Amino acid sequence: MDQPFPRVPAPAVRRGRSSRRLRVLFAAAEVFPLVKTGGLGDVAYYLPLALREQGVDARIIMPAYGSVLATAGRRRRTLARLDLPGHRAPARLLTERMDGGVPIYLVDVPGCFDRDGNPYLAPDGHEWPDNARRYAAFCRAVAALAAGIPGVAWRPDVLHANDWHTGLAPALLAGAGGRPGVLFAIHNLAFQGLYPHAELAALGLPAHWWSLDGLEFHGRMSFMKGGLVYADRIVTVSPRYAREILTPEFGCGLDGLLRHRRDVLSGIVNGVDYRVWDPRHDVHIAHAYCSDDPAGKRANRDLLRERVGLARTPAVCLFGHVSRLSGQKGTDLLLAALPALLARHRELQCVLVGSGEAALETALAGLARAWPGRVAVEIGYDETLAHQVIAGADAFVMPSRFEPCGLSQLYSLRYGTVPVVHATGGLRDTVVDATPAALGAGLATGFWFEQATVAALTGAMDRALALHGAGDGRWQALMRTGMAQDFGWENSARAYLDLYHTLPGGHGVRTASARA
Ligand code: ADP
Ligand code: GLC
Repeated sequence: MDQPFPRVPAPAVRRGRSSRRLRVLFAAAEVFPLVKTGGLGDVAYYLPLALREQGVDARIIMPAYGSVLATAGRRRRTLARLDLPGHRAPARLLTERMDGGVPIYLVDVPGCFDRDGNPYLAPDGHEWPDNARRYAAFCRAVAALAAGIPGVAWRPDVLHANDWHTGLAPALLAGAGGRPGVLFAIHNLAFQGLYPHAELAALGLPAHWWSLDGLEFHGRMSFMKGGLVYADRIVTVSPRYAREILTPEFGCGLDGLLRHRRDVLSGIVNGVDYRVWDPRHDVHIAHAYCSDDPAGKRANRDLLRERVGLARTPAVCLFGHVSRLSGQKGTDLLLAALPALLARHRELQCVLVGSGEAALETALAGLARAWPGRVAVEIGYDETLAHQVIAGADAFVMPSRFEPCGLSQLYSLRYGTVPVVHATGGLRDTVVDATPAALGAGLATGFWFEQATVAALTGAMDRALALHGAGDGRWQALMRTGMAQDFGWENSARAYLDLYHTLPGGHGVRTASARA
């Protein structure tokens, strides 16, 4: 792990003669299972859960979307009312405790979040037109709770803010007395929350934020810069991506600022909650299996093929792909590579699941029509099907042009589903390429390709198909090595704890390191 900071072992913060648990407020725009559009949702629930299991008093704060208000709420109550500048009716801070035990604060701002559909996108596929106002309000509520709300006993020692939706919170807290230490996590630098200059005044934000050292980004206001400029530390979700974003190729225009702050930037790989993602007890799959008894995997593959309409031919190598459909994920590369691969390898079948850009959805449907029985496409978001593909496929392909961490390859490893990945970001950090040397040493877990091109992807899939077809036990060895990998959240949570202890302590509470 790429940790430039000193290791500080003790998880608890001591105050006076008594000791109490470190308090961490985890702010995110989506939290599984309440709202999830991608990996951030998984991280925003399972990381706080893992932190709690390490003895941290971690709590989540998220917007009270309509769907959340409709489903959660058996033990909900209003904790505080907040007057937010520019909002006539007060916002409500609600509390919610999920069954797994992580307490959640819901920010209910009248007119902002209580609407149907995707949290970020209107039904026409474009951003909600008032996203700046919505997430600015969320950030104000986050900053208020982080700084302490009169009458609310709980105040965090650490604010762990995630992605642009929370970026104004570090800026709002800057200079506030008694503020917590602030960690800002980048899950995807490509989404920055960029809005016209006029929004700064419209949202009642300080005029002096408008500078290159503040939120200005090429003539627009950047929420992401709020986190990058004002947080005490910045983290991203893999060590490799932490280095990549220092370069113009991956820095999305922010590489200069990130190089300036490189001494407080590090990377920690995401984790997997193996209580949910493990073929020994996955509730979404029909046949449990494990490394020592893998027969169930074949049975899951047969069921999957039946479900999605693939031919039941005996000789098969089934590739899966479950993804948001966007340029980032390289689904277009896969679309371009598949026809020649399908023509060349009669055993190749594919199941592709995703939703997103309309042109990609149309192209995928066209591919399925052109290759009946060999290519199955399901457009949409389906959590159960995602589990079934990861369990039933032989290989899982992720041709992402960039990938801050990626979770699907981590899940695939545990299911003996061999990842074929572009060697970038977290994909490179978590998959070991099946070179002859790595195979010989028993270290290989998947296949890499170095360039995000159709030719390179084709080469990696050719290699995978050749090894799968060789029938000499090397594929099974690859599966076993992958299944034995441990990407449990416990390791990542420990690394976050170390990082929290390097932050300035809030509320006069000293960190364990300061007292040692
Ligand atoms: P990202 O967050 O960039 O989309 P990750 O690999 O970190 O990528 O996480 C993606 C998560 O979203 C995984 O849990 C994956 O299974 C899930 N996912 C993506 N698309 C779909 C879909 N169409 N249906 C079900 N799950 C999906
Ligand atoms: C982002 C990234 C993905 C990462 C996820 C969770 O959506 O694209 O790589 O795994 O966040 O951190």
